[in-house]
Amino acid sequence: MSTITRGLPKAVGPLSQAVLDHLTGERPLSGVTDITLSHSDPAGMDLHYALHLCYELFYRGFDGVSDDFEWDPTLLELRGRLEDIFLTDIRRGVGDLTGVTAAAEMDRLSLEPVEGSGPSHFLLTRGSWDQMREYFAHRSIYHLKEADPHAWVIPRLVGQAKASFVAVEFDEYGGGRGSQVHQRLFADLMTDAGLDAGYLAYLEAVPAETLAVVNLMSMFGLHRALRGATVGHFAATEITSPPGAQRIADALDRMRAPEACTRFYLEHVEADAVHEQVVRNDVVADLLRREPHLESDVVLGIRAFELVEDRLADHLMKCWSDKRTSLLSPLR
Ligand SMILES: [Fe+2]
Ligand SMILES: [Fe+2]
Repeated sequence: MSTITRGLPKAVGPLSQAVLDHLTGERPLSGVTDITLSHSDPAGMDLHYALHLCYELFYRGFDGVSDDFEWDPTLLELRGRLEDIFLTDIRRGVGDLTGVTAAAEMDRLSLEPVEGSGPSHFLLTRGSWDQMREYFAHRSIYHLKEADPHAWVIPRLVGQAKASFVAVEFDEYGGGRGSQVHQRLFADLMTDAGLDAGYLAYLEAVPAETLAVVNLMSMFGLHRALRGATVGHFAATEITSPPGAQRIADALDRMRAPEACTRFYLEHVEADAVHEQVVRNDVVADLLRREPHLESDVVLGIRAFELVEDRLADHLMKCWSDKRTSLLSPLR
């Protein structure tokens, strides 16, 4: 049985050190100066680690850390400042969204380029089983809490958008069957791939690019003001999932991988093709009928998803083409 929570990780810089010292009672959170914040790299490891620690208090928390830290005002204040830095970087990265419609963006996303590149193409044609296992370790940070970051938006939706959003999430949570919850399917995949299926077991092994993928969802999900971005992010996730999942499933076939590994991805090829239509027609369209002013936020969510995924893909491809591990410490 995989672990449900994990202990605190080690700090990687002044921001994550300050958060950890606060959570352990070592030192109250007052030492984070404006200078530390203004010098922090918005895409850097320390900022994303600190942010991830703050967000995790809203999910399962950490062993030995009081649940009350979830609403600790000093941590919330720091989190807000980290989010400002991250969101500013994201807004800069996605560029000018004036005049861009959510429908056009979703049409663009559903068109797969004929000559694709990136990790799933690489793994399909020439990646090794060890590189596939690295890919699982990166993805475990999200998939072991799959669907949870998006679920924060449910109380912020109404009507058909809410009903259809929940219908998709119902499938992500196994349609009422605990053994079929996608988080559980991914834990089964990890076990069969000979990896640690424990929750956040690879937290200290992944780079900032991997943490940013999950931090983005948490930031969108935990802010009512960013509900349009959560829906856009959710749409982008569902629209891009089937072709990518099919490539990984084919790569796993080629590698003669254990059955649980292929099962996770095949599940997403079939389910997400249906989810894509529901999200486009019943979630995004209904939300924008009710709240048309959220259109550019939906587009922001779509573009931000692509931005952080592209950054992770660049990291993976750079490491793999240099024939080195994409993790901070190699897998055993
Ligand atoms: Fe899923
Ligand atoms: Fe899905």
